[in-house]
Amino acid sequence: MSSDFRTAAHTLVDQIADFLECADERPVVTLRDPEALAAAWPMEIAAEPLADLAPLVARICDDAVNQHNRRCVGHQVSAPTTPSLLADLLVATLNNGMASYESGPVSSALERNVTRWLAARLGMPEGADGVLTSGGTLGNLTALLAARQLCLADFTNANQGANQGDSRDAASDKLCVVASEHAHYCVERAAAVMGFGDGGVVRAAVDAELRLRGEAVREAVARARDAGRRVVAVVATAGASPSGAFDPLEELASTCAKLGVWLHVDAAHGASAAMSRRYRSLLAGIERADSVVWDAHKLLSMPALVTAVLFRRGDVSYAPFAHDADYLFEPGGPPARWYDYGVRNMECTKRMLSVQLYLTLAATGTDAIDAYVTGRFDLARRFGELIAQASDFELVAAPRCNIVCFRYSGGDGGDEDAGLQDRLRRRVIEGGRFYLTRTTIAKRAALRVTLMNPRTTERDLIELLDSLRTAAAR
Ligand SMILES: Cc1ncc(COP(=O)(O)O)c(C=O)c1O
Repeated sequence: MSSDFRTAAHTLVDQIADFLECADERPVVTLRDPEALAAAWPMEIAAEPLADLAPLVARICDDAVNQHNRRCVGHQVSAPTTPSLLADLLVATLNNGMASYESGPVSSALERNVTRWLAARLGMPEGADGVLTSGGTLGNLTALLAARQLCLADFTNANQGANQGDSRDAASDKLCVVASEHAHYCVERAAAVMGFGDGGVVRAAVDAELRLRGEAVREAVARARDAGRRVVAVVATAGASPSGAFDPLEELASTCAKLGVWLHVDAAHGASAAMSRRYRSLLAGIERADSVVWDAHKLLSMPALVTAVLFRRGDVSYAPFAHDADYLFEPGGPPARWYDYGVRNMECTKRMLSVQLYLTLAATGTDAIDAYVTGRFDLARRFGELIAQASDFELVAAPRCNIVCFRYSGGDGGDEDAGLQDRLRRRVIEGGRFYLTRTTIAKRAALRVTLMNPRTTERDLIELLDSLRTAAAR
């Protein structure tokens, strides 16, 4: 096995290294019709193994989005760094199961240490603790499950013996979360999975800077309570997906404390600002949140998916997952047996995410992470200035992190033309030099870039504006 592995690994690593080295010369993406692409990949799996995988690997690279091209400024997906790719290979090789301590000893120990380290980066107090899980979507559900459990426990305690209230008040469709319209769609999905039903997410308005404010939360909580709903949590966002906005967490923490409601911060995108000395103030107040989600596969430059779910009071996080499995877990689960992660999160078998995270952090160092995050946020601000100075573009909102939303407003039809932004984007993508995304803000289409690649420069962004102008002239 080992010599087979060495030979095959050399071949593949050489091929990947070639791909990385010429990433900027290759198209960012060649978007083909989905049916045609599916037809181009027939399931021709022979009885005998394929001797040479290289042609298939080359075709897969051709048909993939090239995250490593510095003009790939589309989604919030990283161009993983060398240490994180190598850590990924080690983790796949060791392949420990992680459900119980015995099935993943080193990764369980590291999961505790790495989550506490991340919590400390956010300034969360002693006693903060967390778990790693596969993605922000699952992470937000994990945090909200804990919030719901606590909310129901409070309800039961409040009504015990006194025989007051109606047990139907604890039914799932009497529960809800409060979130802004800019919260990630996975919050709505989490509410649906928890059975909150229609009205399970009570929307709070955002201010002119697209932020959720305390006043809007108070109003939404009152609206929910008037409608007979118990508010399980308020969901704030640090680094909103559509706009990059950061909600004012200090203000929201005070509001939630007064209302007696759990504050969850979806910082999947923005939590890595904590690694930047220049930008960590964007997160002021996050240490007061009851729970936080932090995606390492975004601004910590790791391959998908590595998410930390952090709880200010680690002990309240276990309740949703207190399930028995005699063949796997010993009796006397957490918090005493904190190291059996299978009874602390949704997943049973899970990748050794902590090993990946620990090795990547150690091999990168905090200064380099600071430089990367700060550099991307700085560049987004510079791009915002360039857009604001251009007479044929308009900035939707001042960039707060590495996400910038803007519109082309030049030309005859100008912004009156509803499909203009989408048409320009499509034409630019078809050119193969850039990949950018779109969004809708205040009911108007906008172009959107996310600066994830560490090598994207101001020159590239100037070229992007020129490409959009050329597309508009066609
Ligand atoms: C703010 C926010 N929350 C949650 C998610 C979902 O995370 P994931 O794609 O890891 O499931 C995203 C994804 O971009 C996000 O930006």
